[in-house]
Amino acid sequence: MEKRYGRITGWGAYVPEKVVTNYDLENIVDTSHEWIVQRTGIYQRHVAAPNETTATMSVEAARLALQKANLAASELDLIIVATTTGDHLTPPVSSQVQHMLGATNVPAFVLVTGCTGFLYGLTTAQQFISSGAYDNILVIGAELLSRFIDWNDRSTCVLFGDAAGAFVLQASTEPCGVLGFDMGSDGSGSEHIILPATGSAEPVNAATFAEGRHYLRMNGREVFKFATRILGQTSQRSLAEAGMTLTDIDTIVPHQANLRIIQAAARSMGLPIERFLVKIHKYANTSAAAIPLAICDGLDAGEIGLEDRLLLVSFGAGLTWASAVLQMAPTTETAFAAARTASLEIAELVSA
Ligand code: UT7
Repeated sequence: MEKRYGRITGWGAYVPEKVVTNYDLENIVDTSHEWIVQRTGIYQRHVAAPNETTATMSVEAARLALQKANLAASELDLIIVATTTGDHLTPPVSSQVQHMLGATNVPAFVLVTGCTGFLYGLTTAQQFISSGAYDNILVIGAELLSRFIDWNDRSTCVLFGDAAGAFVLQASTEPCGVLGFDMGSDGSGSEHIILPATGSAEPVNAATFAEGRHYLRMNGREVFKFATRILGQTSQRSLAEAGMTLTDIDTIVPHQANLRIIQAAARSMGLPIERFLVKIHKYANTSAAAIPLAICDGLDAGEIGLEDRLLLVSFGAGLTWASAVLQMAPTTETAFAAARTASLEIAELVSA
């Protein structure tokens, strides 16, 4: 079988209309715009309206991506929704999204690896395409963390925003899509980012509720240390798998959790910060949505192009990490070369 690649033919992102600035947060908790900007690089975040859910945000992003790909939802072979904040513990939000999109009977599943979910989803989708099992796959990263944070806890409530981002992958024989990847997990750090009383280990009851154990808890310093260590390591592994080095990469798209983490990654890779796509000031940390949201924003702003080689790199709850070398569309040169070879072959056939 000819080698198959997952070309990104559609992309779309959704952020809720409501913007909450750092100044707004000064009225809620003991914090300041200056502290938040200095320590995180965040200026504002979008927060979902009461009638919005992870499913509705996912569908908004997915519709844009399908429209861009010129593909009907019914033509999809698979839907993957990466999220930690599905509408319910069960049913899986992926089935709600599948139904709302009108993708009748299309298989759909949720992928839960925290902030790395979208990259885990992207590489999973790529495997289904490479193997020849499926041709058209929708991958969504969506997160509605504003419903899972304690708005009285200044150490977490200033950090997150709500959003969804979606990619459509379609089978192609031209080299593009995920060209190399790396994923990993270290559960010894599971306590560092946790929603304690939301699962079978600690079912929510009056006591856990009174203690606010249904809200996100995070050991920010430990996560920070982990992130600065892992970003460079996983990036090198993805690059090696793609047979590339950092000089082959146009732009690095890191997880958008903290500008200082991105600056530390830039220093450890020996790169200027300008090589990194940074959107944290506008959206804060949108977890599994952060990378597709940054890419959509970067494409709209003309900061990146479809033929650029991107290095996507993320870390998050688990603790998990993931990275991927991505080229959304084949290079025109490659396309021309392929067309030339095909026409030469035809010429040979005709003259024979
Ligand atoms: O997507 C993955 C999930 N999360 C992350 O990637 C988070 C990674 N960690 C971080 O981004 C940073 O650790 C934080 C932004 C969470 C915190 O920054 P930090 O520089 O590590 O601050 P810190 O936790 O060491 O706290 C320094 C001080 C403390 O006060 P004292 O003990 O020195 O008096 C905090 O109580 O800052 C205080 N503080 C705040 N002050 C004003 C913590 N949050 C705030 C706040 N406003 N919002």
